[in-house]
Amino acid sequence: MRILLTGSDGQLGSEFRTLKRSTAEVISTGSRELDLTDEQETRRYVRDTKPSVIINTAAFSDMDAAERNWDACFALNAMAPVVLAEEAHRIDALLIHYSTDQVFAGTKTEPYVETDQPAPLNVFGASKLAGEEGIASSFARAIILRLGWTYSARSENFLRTILRLAQHSDELHVAADQIGTPTSARSVAQATERLVRMYADSRKTQFPTGIYHLAAGGATTWHGFASAILSMAPGSRKPILRPSETSENPSFARRPRYCVLSCNKFLANFGFQLAPWEQQLKEVMEEVRGLSAA
Ligand SMILES: NC(=O)c1ccc[n+]([C@@H]2O[C@H](COP(=O)([O-])OP(=O)(O)OC[C@H]3O[C@@H](n4cnc5c(N)ncnc54)[C@H](OP(=O)(O)O)[C@@H]3O)[C@@H](O)[C@H]2O)c1
Repeated sequence: MRILLTGSDGQLGSEFRTLKRSTAEVISTGSRELDLTDEQETRRYVRDTKPSVIINTAAFSDMDAAERNWDACFALNAMAPVVLAEEAHRIDALLIHYSTDQVFAGTKTEPYVETDQPAPLNVFGASKLAGEEGIASSFARAIILRLGWTYSARSENFLRTILRLAQHSDELHVAADQIGTPTSARSVAQATERLVRMYADSRKTQFPTGIYHLAAGGATTWHGFASAILSMAPGSRKPILRPSETSENPSFARRPRYCVLSCNKFLANFGFQLAPWEQQLKEVMEEVRGLSAA
């Protein structure tokens, strides 16, 4: 089994390095090794390396910047995945691609299922939806995992921002009117690795492909997440945490108010699910403590 991993220095891509390797050979690429916005280079790279699985973690993931750079955002989130899917189809490889809860408008009050109608509110969500649709029409054998709010101990993300601000601020204002599910990038990498093993052991044509929701269990607000982070943070300095409305923190991109994902389809097809978000946070904070001590 040979795996082509894109975005290998990103938040999710870098978590694959921490996993215990099976016998698979992994070709790790960042934008320097493989610029996915270069269609000819991408096609040539896949044809030359002939992977049996392509794991595409590369993305234009800055939601606010996407509003002003929609062409760059669509090139990476919508067009590149289709090129990868077409090449995967050509060499009979499995494509594992990641999408987002941001494809939904957030008007529901109970977890979104895969058959719910997407209606993105921002350019980023629209680009990810276009990527999903392009992959679906490529005939490639593909798994698309729509993720919740993703974070890790290392990369720049909400958890790291809260920990950094906590060192210098007496008071933090965090949105309490958006509900979603913090999900550790490590758990997504582990789940992906497990899917790859299941695929390797399966009859390829019968592997259950399609769109799946994948997030930790439970739900909270950004304020609830920040509160849990601070309660587990090392050191005694803790700022006062105030709930705020999204409208008080103006950003370019509109965000869905509710984007909890039901992962029942994933559980039914693959027989496992991710741990509750609070348990995942404990594990990531252990890692943060280890990194601070090092
Ligand atoms: N983070 C979240 O909250 C979240 C939530 C839901 C879904 N997701 C999805 O999960 C996946 C992984 O997200 P992430 O948080 O790991 O993203 P990330 O940390 O922003 O990493 C994205 C990677 O894309 C690579 N990239 C950028 N331009 C490229 C290009 N032209 N060619 C090739 N690679 C390029 C970058 O590589 P270089 O560093 O080498 O430039 C970067 O490492 C994405 O599909 C994202 O949409 C993320």
